Amino acid sequence: MDWELWQRSWDQQQELYLPEREERFRVMMDVVAAAVGSEPLVLDLACGTGTISRRLFARMPRARSVAVDVDPTLLAIARGSFEGDSRITFVTADLADPRWMDCLLDEPFDAVLTATSLHWMKAEPVTRLYADLAKLIRPGGVFVNADHMPDPETPMLNAIDAAIQNSHQERARAEGALDWEQWWATVARDSGLAEEHAGSRAIFEQHSGGEEHPVAWHCLRLKEAGFLETGVAWQSINDAMVVAIR
Ligand SMILES: C[S@@+](CC[C@H](N)C(=O)[O-])C[C@H]1O[C@@H](n2cnc3c(N)ncnc32)[C@H](O)[C@@H]1O
Repeated sequence: MDWELWQRSWDQQQELYLPEREERFRVMMDVVAAAVGSEPLVLDLACGTGTISRRLFARMPRARSVAVDVDPTLLAIARGSFEGDSRITFVTADLADPRWMDCLLDEPFDAVLTATSLHWMKAEPVTRLYADLAKLIRPGGVFVNADHMPDPETPMLNAIDAAIQNSHQERARAEGALDWEQWWATVARDSGLAEEHAGSRAIFEQHSGGEEHPVAWHCLRLKEAGFLETGVAWQSINDAMVVAIR
C-alpha cells in the first residue's frame, strides 16, 4: 500500500475546502512551541490520517503523540504511514462516548490539538469533551481547536466567504482536486482497504450530524470547563483557531 499517496490525496481533498490549511497548521505549531516547548506530549484529537502529528514531528522531532480517532480507514492510513515510529501511539475511540478517555494512560498532556473535527459532533458531547480535556491537560498546557466556526449573526460576511469558497473550489476542481465523496469513492475502489471502508461506511450511516458554533461559543464553553484563558490565534471569515490555556 502506498500510504504516502493516500496522505497526499487526503491533504488535497481537505485543501479543496480549506486552502489556508497548511498556514493554519503552521500557526498551530507556533502556538505549541511557544506555549509548551519543543518536546511536548500531544493528544492529536480526531487525528484522521495523523495530519497534525505529521506536522508536529516535522517541526518538533522530539515530540510524542497519542492519536485518537474513530474512523477505521483514516486510522489505517495513519498507522500505515507511521509504521515503526515509536513516537506515536494510536487509539480507536468515539469522542462522543463519555468513556472515550478510558483508553488513555494517566500521563497528563502538554497539548491537545484538533483540526476540522469537532463540528462533526453536537453541542452537548463537545461541552462534555471540553470538561474531559481540562482533566487531561496539565496546568499551563494548551488546547488548540481549528475548525469551521461560522457566526450566524454575520450573514453578509458569510455570503462573501461562500463566494470565495466557490471560486477556490472551481479552480481546484479544474486542476483535478477530488471532493469528499470522490475521495471516499477512491477508497471504495481499493480492495486493500475493503474492510476499513465497510467500517467507515457503517459509521457514516449511523452519524446523526454535527453542529458548528461561533468562536465565542467555544471560548465560553472552555472557560466553563476550567480553562484559564481563551483566545484566537488565527481566523478567516468562517474558520478559526481557538486556543485555551489550562
Ligand atoms: C475532516 S477530518 C480531519 C482530520 C485531521 N485533523 C485533518 O485535519 O486532516 C475529521 C476527523 O474527525 C474524526 N471524528 C469525527 N467525529 C469523531 C468522533 N466522534 N470520535 C472520534 N473521531 C471523530 C473523523 O473520523 C475524522 O478523522
